[in-house]
Amino acid sequence: MQIIIRPTSEIAALLTARLIAEALTAKPDLVLGLATGRTMERVYADLARRHLDHGLDFSSCRTFNLDEYVGIAPEDPNSYRHYMNRHLFERVNIDLRNTHVPNGVASDLAAECARYERAILACGGIDLQLLGIGTDGHIGFNEPLASLRSRTRVEILTSATRRQNAGMFSGDPERVPPCALTMGVGTILDSRRCLMLATGSEKTDILAKAVEGPITAMIPASALQMHPDSTIIVDETAATGLRGADYCRTIFNTAPAWAAYR
Ligand code: GLP
Repeated sequence: MQIIIRPTSEIAALLTARLIAEALTAKPDLVLGLATGRTMERVYADLARRHLDHGLDFSSCRTFNLDEYVGIAPEDPNSYRHYMNRHLFERVNIDLRNTHVPNGVASDLAAECARYERAILACGGIDLQLLGIGTDGHIGFNEPLASLRSRTRVEILTSATRRQNAGMFSGDPERVPPCALTMGVGTILDSRRCLMLATGSEKTDILAKAVEGPITAMIPASALQMHPDSTIIVDETAATGLRGADYCRTIFNTAPAWAAYR
């Protein structure tokens, strides 16, 4: 696991976008796993800018989103499908048929989850999975106690998550759907590479637990410690609680692999 500390949340987001852009340029038919949340908005804005200014080409890219609320239709402005269309898909030259978000209004949710797993496999698996982190340690919507080998399924959201995500639902946690479809922790760990972005003071405590604490189902993000190629990009504020912060800075400042990014 590599933890990269950048001075500000903006610089951290721009580095994340750059790494995605480089992966896409290296493999135009990249299978890209995508995340939602406020943290990702800057990443998607910069990818859109790279498309506009530098012709970053999404025409062969395939995408799979981590999750979607149960009971929220794709055209609903609160859906993650709507979020993705607005923040990224409508702003780049991606073929919408190549973009996948679990269907939260499927009549058979278990069948939808199985279909989603098959669709990922049919594309050859996820090359690069973008991740945020919830204040309770969730990745996707894998809440505390999610099996570290779980697959795409229906998950009941914690009250902490419903509070954290209330902003999109007029600030009222009660209006946040109680359940979501989410890729499992095992599905995420099957990605060839994981790229997490965590910024701001509300992530300081959970980040330290996830990357320096024990691997535990109570903190699903801690499963990334077992992934052979995971990079966690954070800003100085989120890194405040890391005991190994100095070592992380040393790696970024000396490792040849990061020379072009310093
Ligand atoms: C939602 C998503 C998560 C994301 C989290 C972080 O809960 N399901 O995948 O990591 O938001 O949100 P934010 O970036 O707004 O803190």
